[in-house]
Amino acid sequence: MRDNSELITDIYRSIVREVLSDYAGHQWPLIPVLQKTQQRIGYIPPQCVRLISQALGPSPVEIQGVISFYEQLRDTPRGRTVIRTCRGTACHVRGGPEVMIRLRDILQISEGETTADLAYSLESVACVGACGLAPNVLVDDEVHGRMTPQKIEQLLQDREEEEPW
Ligand code: FES
Repeated sequence: MRDNSELITDIYRSIVREVLSDYAGHQWPLIPVLQKTQQRIGYIPPQCVRLISQALGPSPVEIQGVISFYEQLRDTPRGRTVIRTCRGTACHVRGGPEVMIRLRDILQISEGETTADLAYSLESVACVGACGLAPNVLVDDEVHGRMTPQKIEQLLQDREEEEPW
């Protein structure tokens, strides 16, 4: 009987094959292949890095370097909800860092990490263009302005009550 990791690798293999066939004949397919793989799986697992390496030529280490270089590419899974604090100047001087500290305490993760239950990822983002409402926090793509450590805690509690995971 095959174990789960073999089944997952088979699924990844068929996804990578499909993605590669979409870019057959392209001159520089690595970035679009990585982007499309991430779109399909949510991130780029190490098994996919190996398969892409075998198909396209760059070593797994080189591909890993590309993933690390591009902010939009990820080699770890993302949470169902992504919380991003604005790190722009207006938000910074009006209390953004304190909101981030509170989020780290509540979620028990650092910036760039995802909770073990995959409920939340915590990130920061450059100015979101709503400086008048600073400090801002994005919950998925929704902007929540004039944020405070107390308000973010309440917001998370409200979400947990609405959508218990
Ligand atoms: S600095 Fe945060 S919205 Fe502009």
